[in-house]
Amino acid sequence: MEQSELRARLAHAGQDHLLRFLPELSRAEQRALSEELRGMDFEELGRFFRRAMESGGAGQDKVDARMEPVPRQVLGSATRDRDQLHDWEQRGLHHISQSKVAVLLLAGGQGTRLGVSYPKGMYDVGLPSHKTLFQIQAERILKLQQLAEKEHGTKCVIPWYIMTSGRTMESTKEFFLKHKYFGLKKENVVFFQQGLLPAMGFDGKILLEEKSKVSMAPDGNGGLYRALGAHGIMEDMERRGIGSIHVYCVDNILVKVADPRFIGFCIQKGADCGAKVVEKTNPTEPVGVVCRVDGVYQVVEYSEISLATAQKRSPDGRLLFNAGNIANHYFTVAFLRDVVNTYEPQLQHHVAQKKIPHVDVASGQLLQPDKPNGIKMEKFVFDIFQFAKKFVVYEVLREDEFSPLKNADSQNGKDNPTTARHALMSLHHCWVLNAGGHFVDENGTRIPAIPRFTNGRPDAIRADVNDNLKDANDLPIQCEISPLVSYGGEGLEQYVKNREFRAPLIIDENGVHELVKNGV
Ligand code: UTP
Repeated sequence: MEQSELRARLAHAGQDHLLRFLPELSRAEQRALSEELRGMDFEELGRFFRRAMESGGAGQDKVDARMEPVPRQVLGSATRDRDQLHDWEQRGLHHISQSKVAVLLLAGGQGTRLGVSYPKGMYDVGLPSHKTLFQIQAERILKLQQLAEKEHGTKCVIPWYIMTSGRTMESTKEFFLKHKYFGLKKENVVFFQQGLLPAMGFDGKILLEEKSKVSMAPDGNGGLYRALGAHGIMEDMERRGIGSIHVYCVDNILVKVADPRFIGFCIQKGADCGAKVVEKTNPTEPVGVVCRVDGVYQVVEYSEISLATAQKRSPDGRLLFNAGNIANHYFTVAFLRDVVNTYEPQLQHHVAQKKIPHVDVASGQLLQPDKPNGIKMEKFVFDIFQFAKKFVVYEVLREDEFSPLKNADSQNGKDNPTTARHALMSLHHCWVLNAGGHFVDENGTRIPAIPRFTNGRPDAIRADVNDNLKDANDLPIQCEISPLVSYGGEGLEQYVKNREFRAPLIIDENGVHELVKNGV
């Protein structure tokens, strides 16, 4: 395409300001900018913008009156359906053993709130082992493959699809290469890239990050569906004979990748789409809830409902809308195929108002706005629930399965490296207690645990460190169990039964390590 043609296209789309600084740029910069702009479909972008602004604009009606909670018959619960857990787990493990289950990681976000320049999966939250989120997840996959193999006597593979964005792809790949794929086979770790969209002012004008560069951002974790189609990922899944996919976010340190119970539950129900949820207990917690709106399943954000609705309770005392979405989903490959082929174009972008640094086209100055000055457009991974033919919901305990890393420690006390680290160590502390081990303090006195119903086992013990932590000086018992040793608390008796430990305690593939005793 000639430069004049590009200019005409831009002018037609009302975006010719993007070439405003062209004469000031070097040859190479001119070429790069023109190439970037040539690759953009301005008509489509204009359409996205208009639809997103119409559907996400101010003054949207609240959906309260049209909402219904998840009915009990589509709900499975790790605490309320204890008698079925074994069956679901067996079903799930069987599918895994047949190499019919894959996991798909959403790792294309920018991690703005955490504020590091590298992909979030490479973050070390400061566990005694200093494992990164990627390593923890990789080792859980490895362990689960072993568990399924042991149970069914067949070798199996859980392929790991990793969605990154243009900004995170190279560093993610390098990291995996450097760490030899954490013991997984390279051919079973498949990276693919999600799309980017330009950031726009409220007037629909595309913003420049630099004079020679458009401000681009990933198109949301729902960019998954377009990316699956664009990179032939569905074909890869079909070639491998995959039937079920577990999709999850990179930042949940407790994520049970390919959780056999969740997979088994969804399969037993004949579901094509499922969401794992945790109970929302505080009406004002800003978490989306899974529910039905006009009879169709979706996630309703906290901001979309009134406080009165958020506070409604059922007769059992729980919040009526309590199915807190944790971005942990089950899809059949057939359903994903339909989404990619048919439904994806129907998904609308959501509008996120952001403070977007940009070059002012009038002055050429780089501006750092202190209030939102434009929008980023995103699709969400859960936007496709509406297309499911059989949708189910699986409820788990938050302290067992959900602790996301969103913020830096300095920002606030929620969802940061400290809370993630504490959540994992608190859970592993429980695992040790449940397997018959004990912790003692520096005087050799046993540290009491608070018995509590957990993990579907009424007799289980929970050292409820998170609930008990009142301030930052209250620390959980430092206890970390390698996923290579235990996926979900199983198999620990041989290491801990009737033994007393002083924290910090690490149990890994090389055995039991009490760091203080050994003077580490
Ligand atoms: P968040 O919405 O929390 O975004 O993503 P983020 O990028 O991690 O953090 P902030 O908002 O910039 O601080 C939830 C999950 O969705 C993935 C993220 O990588 C994370 O696993 N995600 C998000 C994508 O894969 N692509 C996107 O475009 C956005």
